[in-house]
Amino acid sequence: MSALHHRPRERMDLKHYLLSEVSVLMLAPRRVGKTWLMERVDDDLTREGHLCVRFDASGKGTEQAFLGALCNAIEKQKHLHEAVFDHLKQRLRQVAGGDVKDSLSQIVGQVDPKTFSECLVESLSRSDRKTVIMVDEFSLFALALASKDQDATRTLLYHLRSLQQSYRNVTWLLAGSVGLDVVARRFGLGGALLDLQPFGLAPFTEAEARSYLTHLADSGQLTRRLAIDDTVFEHLARELGWLAPYYLQRLGRELRPTGRPTGQGGGTGCATVTVADVDAAFAKLLEPSHRVCFSAWEEHIDKNFPDEDTRRLEAILNTCCQGPDGETENTLLAVLARQGSGVDRRALKDLTSSLANDGYLSRAEDRWRFRSGLLRRYWLEYMSA
Ligand SMILES: Nc1ncnc2c1ncn2[C@@H]1O[C@H](COP(=O)(O)OP(=O)(O)O)[C@@H](O)[C@H]1O
Ligand SMILES: [Mg+2]
Repeated sequence: MSALHHRPRERMDLKHYLLSEVSVLMLAPRRVGKTWLMERVDDDLTREGHLCVRFDASGKGTEQAFLGALCNAIEKQKHLHEAVFDHLKQRLRQVAGGDVKDSLSQIVGQVDPKTFSECLVESLSRSDRKTVIMVDEFSLFALALASKDQDATRTLLYHLRSLQQSYRNVTWLLAGSVGLDVVARRFGLGGALLDLQPFGLAPFTEAEARSYLTHLADSGQLTRRLAIDDTVFEHLARELGWLAPYYLQRLGRELRPTGRPTGQGGGTGCATVTVADVDAAFAKLLEPSHRVCFSAWEEHIDKNFPDEDTRRLEAILNTCCQGPDGETENTLLAVLARQGSGVDRRALKDLTSSLANDGYLSRAEDRWRFRSGLLRRYWLEYMSA
């Protein structure tokens, strides 16, 4: 029986797409659980007899390096490798002429990347089994490539698109934490992503979060076993706002229950968490020693936008963090105008929706506010000074 927090619905949906010739682009902020989910979908599909090739594209700065990582992933699967390799060698001999080397990783350097990937995917598609190529951190790779060579990135993305169209029984699952939509808009690459099915991975629901926290406590991953009643859990969920496994884990580790022991916990009883204990754990996470837990949020704004937009996004966040209810669009427009980086309403929409996509803000009527109370307090304390 799979637990509530094991993402059964997402796993089914992804499996369904990938086995019905639909390639997927899974975008979600860091630490929501993309890598975890990708690994599970890999296990699920493999168990059913399909072929999966999975690799992480972060740190790959060239198309060559990207394909190298793909080859390594194939080589790790002996069975798949043998099936693909003979055919691939033969094809490459035809197109490249002469001798080809004895391992996939060596051949990558011998032939131009387009020809190589075309032959590789063609070879994979000859199998009577469905093949899924899973690429983690695809948008980091696209961003790194695009900031060096925009044309090369466009060519590569369109090439991947044509591979998806030509070889329908090889599907792709691309995951990314940096919004690839931001990358695409910044570099004018939107068209290349048209055929991908977007899949947004949301943080946990309250029920899933509770199941996850209980699992952490019961499996000894927190400092102690603990009991949380419904009211206290609701308080925790409301304050946290963004129920991603990472923050639940961090918060859980800081919980020091002081409530009266319950009858649970193997006779010894486990202490009950009180509202004050939850607040103390939040306070702990906001201490300077825990800043690193939030660095991904800072870095994303800092690194992945043109300077002018970074300044605007910072101004929006600095304004919205002042209170739990956030701010109105009119106020945000005025703030931006005042700091000399004014935008019209439409451009503000682009900025706020990008912050909403990446999990920073959510909209309630005409106000934009921080989705996570914890992140809001962090931003107020450290960023908005
Ligand atoms: N559904 C889940 N059940 C249990 N643990 C999870 C789940 N999703 C994520 N995690 C854990 O949460 C942490 C962050 O997840 P990860 O997959 O690395 O996020 P991402 O790839 O989105 O940055 C990891 O420690 C991971 O094992
Ligand atoms: Mg990941």
